[in-house]
Amino acid sequence: MKRLLPLPLLALAAPHADAQATNPPLPPCTHEDRAAQVDPAGDGRFTVLDTVMRLPEDFVPSGLVPLREAGFADDRLVRDVIIPDLTALREAAERDAIALEIFSAYRSYAYQAETFAYWVNVQGEEAARATSARPGHSEHQLGTAIDVGTAGGPAPWDLDDWALTPEGAWMQTNAWRYGFVLSYPRDSRDVTCYAYEPWHWRWVGQEMAATIREAGVPPRVYLWHARTTMALEDPHDP
Ligand code: DAL
Ligand code: ZN
Repeated sequence: MKRLLPLPLLALAAPHADAQATNPPLPPCTHEDRAAQVDPAGDGRFTVLDTVMRLPEDFVPSGLVPLREAGFADDRLVRDVIIPDLTALREAAERDAIALEIFSAYRSYAYQAETFAYWVNVQGEEAARATSARPGHSEHQLGTAIDVGTAGGPAPWDLDDWALTPEGAWMQTNAWRYGFVLSYPRDSRDVTCYAYEPWHWRWVGQEMAATIREAGVPPRVYLWHARTTMALEDPHDP
């Protein structure tokens, strides 16, 4: 496999004088519509999506397949690239008597527009922006992000903290082994741009997930670092 992570680990987790001198600055969580950039891995793992960067309206990832292909009784869609790791994750969880359910998978631009508009209607724009991405800005449009909960249980966002359930705790401990990272960890909104979401897992592959875990930073910190140091360019990968 070609090496996808040409980055030195620059002590991202514990900035000190040297790291601050060498790490590019992380952009603040302004609400902009800058074009997300090209992805050399071809599977969206490097694509930064936050309040700043967005995918175009007509971006639809290639290889969308039903979650059924990973053994879930669910016909919602994800990219085929995540199926082997998602299957292995589900099987490992089941071996530990943990039954997971996917509560959200691929979301089109139009679906995200409806979702965001719904939350604006319910909560007002400012509150909605803390928990819901504006259309084009959601990692769910990549087809590699999933919202995970307890099989047969309530939606994870209806609990105080799904990470405190056996299923949520299992994901916190094990998801990285199968290439999934938590996009919006607790107490990290200043760098992730969104409130804590213990259910939202983004696939980046096992190698990058292990690197992000080792760095001890939210994925956005790592991905902006990668984007800057690799000088990725428009247009994004279809
Ligand atoms: N809830 C996350 C931020 C999304 O809407 O993609
Ligand atoms: Zn999500």
